[in-house]
Amino acid sequence: MKKTILTGIRPTGNLHIGHYFGSVKSWVELQDDYNSYFEIADVQALTDNFSNPQKVSKNVHELAIDLLSVGIDPKKATIFVQSMIPEIAELTIFYSNLVTMARLYRNPTVKSEIAQKKAIFGNEGESVTYGFVGYPVSQAADITAFKGEAVPVGEDQLPLIEQCREIVRKFNSIYGKTLVEPEAIIGKYPRIKGLDGNEKMGKSLGNAIYLCDSEEVINEKVRSAITDPNKIKKDDPADPDKCMVYYYHKLFSEDNLSTICEECKLGKRGCVACKKELAQNIVEYLKPIQEKRKYYEEHPNEVDEILKEGTQKAREKAKETIKEVKKAIGINYFDDKTK
Ligand code: TRP
Repeated sequence: MKKTILTGIRPTGNLHIGHYFGSVKSWVELQDDYNSYFEIADVQALTDNFSNPQKVSKNVHELAIDLLSVGIDPKKATIFVQSMIPEIAELTIFYSNLVTMARLYRNPTVKSEIAQKKAIFGNEGESVTYGFVGYPVSQAADITAFKGEAVPVGEDQLPLIEQCREIVRKFNSIYGKTLVEPEAIIGKYPRIKGLDGNEKMGKSLGNAIYLCDSEEVINEKVRSAITDPNKIKKDDPADPDKCMVYYYHKLFSEDNLSTICEECKLGKRGCVACKKELAQNIVEYLKPIQEKRKYYEEHPNEVDEILKEGTQKAREKAKETIKEVKKAIGINYFDDKTK
Protein backbone atom coordinates (compact mmCIF):
# COMPACT_ATOMS: atom_id res chain seq x y z
CA MET A 1 0.00 0.00 0.00
CA LYS A 2 1.24 3.45 -0.92
CA LYS A 3 1.61 5.99 1.85
CA THR A 4 -0.60 9.07 1.70
CA ILE A 5 0.82 12.55 1.29
CA LEU A 6 -1.02 15.82 1.41
CA THR A 7 0.19 19.31 0.76
CA GLY A 8 -1.37 22.63 -0.06
CA ILE A 9 -0.69 25.88 -1.81
CA ARG A 10 -2.49 29.21 -1.58
CA PRO A 11 -4.07 30.47 -4.80
CA THR A 12 -2.93 34.08 -4.78
CA GLY A 13 -0.97 34.31 -8.03
CA ASN A 14 0.84 32.36 -10.70
CA LEU A 15 3.66 30.01 -9.79
CA HIS A 16 7.21 31.32 -10.12
CA ILE A 17 10.49 29.43 -10.28
CA GLY A 18 10.81 29.78 -6.52
CA HIS A 19 7.61 27.76 -6.04
CA TYR A 20 8.78 25.34 -8.70
CA PHE A 21 12.19 24.46 -7.30
CA GLY A 22 11.12 25.02 -3.70
CA SER A 23 8.10 22.73 -3.75
CA VAL A 24 6.08 21.70 -6.78
CA LYS A 25 8.98 20.02 -8.62
CA SER A 26 9.28 17.57 -5.76
CA TRP A 27 5.49 17.04 -5.70
CA VAL A 28 5.71 15.92 -9.32
CA GLU A 29 8.39 13.41 -8.34
CA LEU A 30 6.47 12.19 -5.28
CA GLN A 31 3.18 11.53 -7.06
CA ASP A 32 4.55 8.26 -8.50
CA ASP A 33 5.32 6.76 -5.12
CA TYR A 34 2.57 8.15 -2.91
CA ASN A 35 -1.17 8.36 -2.79
CA SER A 36 -1.08 12.12 -3.28
CA TYR A 37 -3.47 14.95 -2.44
CA PHE A 38 -2.66 18.47 -3.60
CA GLU A 39 -4.90 21.10 -2.09
CA ILE A 40 -5.62 24.51 -3.56
CA ALA A 41 -5.93 26.25 -0.21
CA ASP A 42 -8.40 29.01 -1.00
CA VAL A 43 -9.87 29.14 2.52
CA GLN A 44 -6.41 29.62 3.96
CA ALA A 45 -5.64 32.28 1.35
CA LEU A 46 -8.77 34.16 2.48
CA THR A 47 -7.32 34.57 5.98
CA ASP A 48 -5.02 37.16 4.40
CA ASN A 49 -7.32 38.31 1.60
CA PHE A 50 -10.82 38.32 3.12
CA SER A 51 -11.48 41.84 1.88
CA ASN A 52 -10.30 41.02 -1.63
CA PRO A 53 -11.79 37.59 -2.32
CA GLN A 54 -11.48 37.91 -6.12
CA LYS A 55 -7.73 37.76 -5.76
CA VAL A 56 -8.22 34.25 -4.37
CA SER A 57 -11.14 33.02 -6.45
CA LYS A 58 -9.72 34.06 -9.81
CA ASN A 59 -6.48 32.27 -9.04
CA VAL A 60 -8.00 28.85 -8.28
CA HIS A 61 -8.35 27.93 -11.95
CA GLU A 62 -5.01 29.62 -12.76
CA LEU A 63 -3.20 27.63 -10.10
CA ALA A 64 -4.79 24.42 -11.31
CA ILE A 65 -3.39 25.20 -14.79
CA ASP A 66 0.06 25.84 -13.31
CA LEU A 67 0.00 22.55 -11.39
CA LEU A 68 -1.10 20.57 -14.44
CA SER A 69 1.48 22.32 -16.61
CA VAL A 70 4.41 21.36 -14.39
CA GLY A 71 3.33 17.74 -14.55
CA ILE A 72 0.97 17.01 -11.69
CA ASP A 73 -0.99 14.20 -13.29
CA PRO A 74 -4.67 13.89 -12.32
CA LYS A 75 -4.46 10.16 -13.10
CA LYS A 76 -1.90 9.77 -10.33
CA ALA A 77 -2.74 12.55 -7.89
CA THR A 78 -5.84 14.23 -6.53
CA ILE A 79 -5.99 18.00 -7.01
CA PHE A 80 -8.83 19.61 -5.07
CA VAL A 81 -10.26 22.89 -3.81
CA GLN A 82 -10.31 23.40 -0.05
CA SER A 83 -13.50 25.47 0.20
CA MET A 84 -15.51 22.75 -1.54
CA ILE A 85 -14.81 20.32 1.31
CA PRO A 86 -16.92 21.53 4.26
CA GLU A 87 -15.68 18.59 6.37
CA ILE A 88 -12.34 20.42 6.67
CA ALA A 89 -14.14 23.37 8.26
CA GLU A 90 -15.96 21.01 10.62
CA LEU A 91 -12.74 19.38 11.72
CA THR A 92 -11.24 22.82 12.28
CA ILE A 93 -13.99 23.59 14.82
CA PHE A 94 -13.41 20.37 16.76
CA TYR A 95 -9.63 20.84 16.76
CA SER A 96 -9.89 24.46 17.88
CA ASN A 97 -10.71 23.23 21.39
CA LEU A 98 -7.44 21.34 21.55
CA VAL A 99 -5.15 24.32 20.99
CA THR A 100 -4.51 27.22 23.34
CA MET A 101 -4.22 30.79 22.12
CA ALA A 102 -0.82 31.00 23.81
CA ARG A 103 0.41 28.04 21.78
CA LEU A 104 -0.82 29.57 18.54
CA TYR A 105 0.86 32.89 19.28
CA ARG A 106 4.07 31.00 20.06
CA ASN A 107 4.03 29.16 16.72
CA PRO A 108 7.14 30.56 15.01
CA THR A 109 5.47 30.79 11.58
CA VAL A 110 2.45 32.64 12.99
CA LYS A 111 4.69 34.78 15.16
CA SER A 112 6.81 36.01 12.27
CA GLU A 113 3.75 36.59 10.08
CA ILE A 114 2.18 38.69 12.86
CA ALA A 115 5.41 40.67 13.12
CA GLN A 116 5.27 41.33 9.37
CA LYS A 117 1.65 42.46 9.61
CA LYS A 118 2.53 44.70 12.50
CA ALA A 119 5.27 46.28 10.41
CA ILE A 120 2.78 46.98 7.63
CA PHE A 121 -0.38 47.87 9.55
CA GLY A 122 0.96 49.17 12.85
CA ASN A 123 -1.58 48.31 15.51
CA GLU A 124 -1.34 44.57 15.98
CA GLY A 125 -4.74 44.14 17.62
CA GLU A 126 -6.51 45.79 14.72
CA SER A 127 -4.98 43.68 11.99
CA VAL A 128 -4.66 40.17 13.40
CA THR A 129 -7.90 38.24 13.05
CA TYR A 130 -9.18 35.14 14.79
CA GLY A 131 -9.14 33.34 11.43
CA PHE A 132 -5.54 34.25 10.82
CA VAL A 133 -4.21 33.19 14.23
CA GLY A 134 -6.18 29.97 13.85
CA TYR A 135 -4.98 28.98 10.39
CA PRO A 136 -2.57 26.34 11.75
CA VAL A 137 -5.64 24.59 13.17
CA SER A 138 -7.32 24.67 9.80
CA GLN A 139 -4.12 23.39 8.20
CA ALA A 140 -4.12 20.49 10.67
CA ALA A 141 -7.65 19.74 9.44
CA ASP A 142 -6.41 19.84 5.82
CA ILE A 143 -3.81 17.21 6.56
CA THR A 144 -5.75 14.91 8.86
CA ALA A 145 -8.98 14.94 6.83
CA PHE A 146 -7.12 12.76 4.32
CA LYS A 147 -5.11 10.81 6.90
CA GLY A 148 -1.98 12.37 5.46
CA GLU A 149 1.03 10.41 6.68
CA ALA A 150 3.58 12.77 5.20
CA VAL A 151 3.49 16.42 4.18
CA PRO A 152 5.97 17.75 1.60
CA VAL A 153 6.72 21.34 2.63
CA GLY A 154 9.42 23.99 2.83
CA GLU A 155 11.29 24.55 6.08
CA ASP A 156 9.12 27.57 6.93
CA GLN A 157 6.15 25.23 7.34
CA LEU A 158 7.73 22.95 9.94
CA PRO A 159 6.11 24.70 12.92
CA LEU A 160 2.72 24.12 11.31
CA ILE A 161 3.37 20.42 10.92
CA GLU A 162 4.52 20.26 14.54
CA GLN A 163 1.31 22.01 15.60
CA CYS A 164 -0.69 19.46 13.62
CA ARG A 165 1.14 16.60 15.30
CA GLU A 166 0.29 18.03 18.72
CA ILE A 167 -3.38 18.34 17.79
CA VAL A 168 -3.42 14.73 16.58
CA ARG A 169 -1.77 13.46 19.77
CA LYS A 170 -4.17 15.42 21.94
CA PHE A 171 -7.20 14.26 19.96
CA ASN A 172 -6.11 10.62 20.07
CA SER A 173 -5.32 10.75 23.79
CA ILE A 174 -8.71 12.23 24.71
CA TYR A 175 -11.03 10.48 22.24
CA GLY A 176 -9.11 7.34 21.34
CA LYS A 177 -6.78 6.63 18.42
CA THR A 178 -8.49 8.05 15.36
CA LEU A 179 -6.14 10.42 13.55
CA VAL A 180 -2.79 9.90 11.86
CA GLU A 181 0.24 11.89 13.02
CA PRO A 182 1.98 13.24 9.90
CA GLU A 183 5.66 13.69 9.20
CA ALA A 184 7.18 16.47 7.13
CA ILE A 185 9.07 15.76 3.93
CA ILE A 186 11.53 18.58 3.33
CA GLY A 187 12.34 19.18 -0.33
CA LYS A 188 15.75 18.66 -1.87
CA TYR A 189 16.11 22.29 -2.88
CA PRO A 190 16.45 25.21 -0.50
CA ARG A 191 14.36 28.35 -0.86
CA ILE A 192 15.18 30.14 -4.12
CA LYS A 193 16.38 33.74 -3.87
CA GLY A 194 14.90 36.61 -5.87
CA LEU A 195 16.44 38.35 -8.88
CA ASP A 196 17.53 41.15 -6.56
CA GLY A 197 19.34 38.76 -4.21
CA ASN A 198 16.55 38.89 -1.61
CA GLU A 199 16.31 35.64 0.39
CA LYS A 200 12.77 35.19 -0.84
CA MET A 201 11.33 35.25 -4.33
CA GLY A 202 7.84 36.71 -4.23
CA LYS A 203 5.20 38.52 -6.18
CA SER A 204 5.00 41.43 -3.75
CA LEU A 205 8.79 41.79 -3.89
CA GLY A 206 8.74 42.15 -7.68
CA ASN A 207 11.75 39.83 -8.01
CA ALA A 208 10.21 36.68 -9.45
CA ILE A 209 10.36 34.84 -12.76
CA TYR A 210 7.01 33.20 -13.44
CA LEU A 211 6.60 29.84 -15.11
CA CYS A 212 4.33 31.56 -17.64
CA ASP A 213 6.64 34.53 -18.39
CA SER A 214 7.28 35.12 -22.10
CA GLU A 215 10.76 35.04 -23.65
CA GLU A 216 10.76 38.82 -23.80
CA VAL A 217 9.86 39.20 -20.13
CA ILE A 218 12.45 36.61 -19.09
CA ASN A 219 15.17 38.44 -21.06
CA GLU A 220 14.15 41.70 -19.44
CA LYS A 221 14.11 40.26 -15.92
CA VAL A 222 17.42 38.45 -16.26
CA ARG A 223 18.99 41.64 -17.59
CA SER A 224 17.99 43.31 -14.30
CA ALA A 225 19.53 40.59 -12.09
CA ILE A 226 22.19 41.65 -9.59
CA THR A 227 25.82 40.78 -10.52
CA ASP A 228 29.14 41.16 -8.68
CA PRO A 229 29.31 44.94 -8.04
CA ASN A 230 33.12 44.86 -8.31
CA LYS A 231 32.96 43.85 -11.93
CA ILE A 232 32.87 47.05 -13.95
CA LYS A 233 34.31 46.11 -17.32
CA LYS A 234 33.43 43.13 -19.45
CA ASP A 235 36.82 41.47 -18.87
CA ASP A 236 37.17 42.17 -15.15
CA PRO A 237 37.46 38.95 -13.15
CA ALA A 238 34.46 38.47 -10.81
CA ASP A 239 33.17 36.35 -7.97
CA PRO A 240 30.29 34.14 -9.19
CA ASP A 241 29.11 33.67 -5.63
CA LYS A 242 28.22 37.36 -5.52
CA CYS A 243 26.13 37.12 -8.68
CA MET A 244 22.46 36.21 -9.01
CA VAL A 245 23.00 35.25 -12.64
CA TYR A 246 25.43 32.53 -11.61
CA TYR A 247 23.03 31.54 -8.82
CA TYR A 248 20.35 30.79 -11.43
CA HIS A 249 22.85 29.19 -13.81
CA LYS A 250 23.21 26.56 -11.07
CA LEU A 251 19.55 25.70 -11.61
CA PHE A 252 19.26 26.06 -15.37
CA SER A 253 22.73 25.51 -16.85
CA GLU A 254 23.98 22.41 -15.05
CA ASP A 255 25.81 21.04 -18.12
CA ASN A 256 27.93 24.11 -18.62
CA LEU A 257 28.29 25.21 -15.02
CA SER A 258 32.00 24.62 -14.44
CA THR A 259 32.90 26.53 -17.63
CA ILE A 260 30.66 29.44 -16.65
CA CYS A 261 32.26 29.58 -13.21
CA GLU A 262 35.84 29.42 -14.55
CA GLU A 263 35.27 32.02 -17.26
CA CYS A 264 33.63 34.39 -14.81
CA LYS A 265 36.48 34.11 -12.33
CA LEU A 266 39.07 34.67 -15.08
CA GLY A 267 37.28 37.66 -16.61
CA LYS A 268 36.64 35.75 -19.82
CA ARG A 269 32.88 36.18 -19.68
CA GLY A 270 31.00 39.42 -19.94
CA CYS A 271 27.81 39.87 -17.93
CA VAL A 272 25.69 40.75 -20.96
CA ALA A 273 26.51 37.50 -22.76
CA CYS A 274 26.27 35.53 -19.54
CA LYS A 275 22.77 36.89 -18.91
CA LYS A 276 21.71 36.14 -22.47
CA GLU A 277 22.82 32.55 -22.06
CA LEU A 278 20.92 32.22 -18.79
CA ALA A 279 17.74 33.76 -20.20
CA GLN A 280 17.93 31.36 -23.14
CA ASN A 281 18.34 28.36 -20.86
CA ILE A 282 15.39 29.44 -18.71
CA VAL A 283 13.25 29.86 -21.83
CA GLU A 284 14.25 26.36 -23.01
CA TYR A 285 13.61 24.88 -19.58
CA LEU A 286 10.14 26.40 -19.36
CA LYS A 287 9.14 25.53 -22.91
CA PRO A 288 7.46 22.16 -22.20
CA ILE A 289 5.69 23.66 -19.18
CA GLN A 290 4.43 26.56 -21.27
CA GLU A 291 3.28 24.26 -24.05
CA LYS A 292 1.16 22.35 -21.57
CA ARG A 293 -0.14 25.61 -20.15
CA LYS A 294 -1.24 26.67 -23.62
CA TYR A 295 -3.17 23.41 -24.00
CA TYR A 296 -5.02 23.89 -20.71
CA GLU A 297 -5.70 27.56 -21.43
CA GLU A 298 -7.40 26.41 -24.59
CA HIS A 299 -9.33 23.68 -22.73
CA PRO A 300 -10.68 25.43 -19.62
CA ASN A 301 -13.54 22.95 -19.21
CA GLU A 302 -11.08 20.11 -18.94
CA VAL A 303 -9.34 21.93 -16.09
CA ASP A 304 -12.62 22.49 -14.28
CA GLU A 305 -13.54 18.85 -14.77
CA ILE A 306 -10.21 17.72 -13.27
CA LEU A 307 -10.77 20.00 -10.28
CA LYS A 308 -14.34 18.82 -9.84
CA GLU A 309 -13.43 15.15 -10.01
CA GLY A 310 -10.45 15.61 -7.68
CA THR A 311 -12.59 17.50 -5.20
CA GLN A 312 -15.30 14.85 -5.29
CA LYS A 313 -12.77 12.12 -4.64
CA ALA A 314 -11.12 14.08 -1.84
CA ARG A 315 -14.49 14.78 -0.27
CA GLU A 316 -15.30 11.08 -0.06
CA LYS A 317 -12.17 10.57 2.01
CA ALA A 318 -12.88 13.61 4.21
CA LYS A 319 -16.41 12.32 4.84
CA GLU A 320 -15.02 9.01 6.10
CA THR A 321 -12.70 10.84 8.46
CA ILE A 322 -15.35 13.19 9.87
CA LYS A 323 -17.55 10.17 10.52
CA GLU A 324 -14.80 8.52 12.55
CA VAL A 325 -14.06 11.76 14.36
CA LYS A 326 -17.67 12.32 15.38
CA LYS A 327 -17.95 8.75 16.49
CA ALA A 328 -14.80 9.09 18.60
CA ILE A 329 -16.15 12.23 20.27
CA GLY A 330 -19.54 10.57 20.67
CA ILE A 331 -21.59 13.09 18.70
CA ASN A 332 -22.67 10.68 15.99
CA TYR A 333 -26.29 10.92 17.20
CA PHE A 334 -28.02 9.74 14.09
CA ASP A 335 -25.65 6.94 13.05
CA ASP A 336 -27.29 3.53 12.88
CA LYS A 337 -26.26 2.05 16.24
CA THR A 338 -27.62 -1.42 15.48
CA LYS A 339 -24.85 -2.01 12.93
N1 TRP B 1 0.49 27.04 4.55
C1 TRP B 1 0.94 26.54 3.28
C2 TRP B 1 1.72 27.64 2.58
O1 TRP B 1 1.46 28.80 2.80
C3 TRP B 1 -0.17 26.07 2.38
C4 TRP B 1 -0.98 24.94 2.93
C5 TRP B 1 -2.34 24.94 3.15
C6 TRP B 1 -0.52 23.65 3.31
N2 TRP B 1 -2.74 23.74 3.61
C7 TRP B 1 -1.67 22.92 3.73
C8 TRP B 1 0.74 23.04 3.32
C9 TRP B 1 -1.56 21.61 4.21
C10 TRP B 1 0.83 21.73 3.79
C11 TRP B 1 -0.31 21.03 4.22
O2 TRP B 1 2.58 27.35 1.80
